[in-house]
Amino acid sequence: MFLKNHWYIAARAGEIGRAPLGRVICGVPLVLFRTEAGAPAALSNVCSHRRAPLDKGKLAGDAIVCPYHGMRFDAGGRCVRIPGQETIPAEAHIDAFPAVERWDLVWVWMGAPGAADPAAIPARPWRADPAWNAESTHYYHVKASHLLMTDNLLDLGHVAYIHADTIGFDAAVLEKDPLVTEVDGERVRNTRIVENIEPAPAVKGWGGFTGRVDRVSISDWTPPCYTAIQFANRSRSGEGAVEFRIDHFPTPETDRTMHYWVLVSRNFRIGDAELTRRIHADNDRVAAQDIDIVEAQQRMIDLAPGRRDMPIRQDKGLVAAHRILARLARAEAAARRTRAAAAARSLSRSAAGTRRAAPRR
Ligand code: FES
Ligand SMILES: [Fe+2]
Repeated sequence: MFLKNHWYIAARAGEIGRAPLGRVICGVPLVLFRTEAGAPAALSNVCSHRRAPLDKGKLAGDAIVCPYHGMRFDAGGRCVRIPGQETIPAEAHIDAFPAVERWDLVWVWMGAPGAADPAAIPARPWRADPAWNAESTHYYHVKASHLLMTDNLLDLGHVAYIHADTIGFDAAVLEKDPLVTEVDGERVRNTRIVENIEPAPAVKGWGGFTGRVDRVSISDWTPPCYTAIQFANRSRSGEGAVEFRIDHFPTPETDRTMHYWVLVSRNFRIGDAELTRRIHADNDRVAAQDIDIVEAQQRMIDLAPGRRDMPIRQDKGLVAAHRILARLARAEAAARRTRAAAAARSLSRSAAGTRRAAPRR
């Protein structure tokens, strides 16, 4: 249902501390906390004893204590104490998930632990570049599949309609759409450059433009569902330019809900706090417009489950991304089957060994 062999954002770095935090990622309930040394830890939030949620417990050193009967688990998921007994069976241990702090966010690896490579965390270097203002991080909880938001970001033709009063452009542009879609391996790039256009209402405010602009939007999509958008507007009459990097990370919570992270960076008037507040508020309005439509889509999908989408010409990038996702899902399923078969073989070998040893009993 979800691609697992990827890094997903679990929280902002500041959200995780010495008080356990519960969060569901890819349908898996996690408890997040920091060790005494400050390293982020992510464990299954389900106690192996009676399935109590560990985020209701407390930390004792680097171990989390279940609130129900006091079993303790270290930051690697090993059960290290069961009150009233000395033996700790293997089934007492719980899953641990690799967790890494990067770009002021905590990322968790939801796939096979041995395959976790921090180098695969999406690169967003402008989030740590002093030439960019990277103060804006938005979080939204959305009642729709994360796939609807990743589709939304591969389909920026909607900006002319859904965002008409914020960052939209004249829908007449789409009649001779300058959209260029490029697919390179697992990456999809959509570029739309519109010259000599009236700036969008919000863009006017950010750049103080009185005249027309050239507008550039380049969006780079990578699996499982991430889009980095370069968005620039340049005045045609010498009134300057505004340029942004807008990073979208729709993250699956369940198959019908998502965590939606939007990081906004800009490279102009970077010390202007009033402008930061204004851009943050405007981006909240933009996100609310997207959230409203994808939640409404999800309701229609639930009411008409047999219906399929009917792609149109501007969906070329979206269709390419869907093919990539399907290919990756097949590869993950095949790897799971191989692991399951290997585990079954090793189980039957150890059972045979037990049978050979049995006559001694
Ligand atoms: S449910 Fe956690 S110790 Fe009993
Ligand atoms: Fe949008």
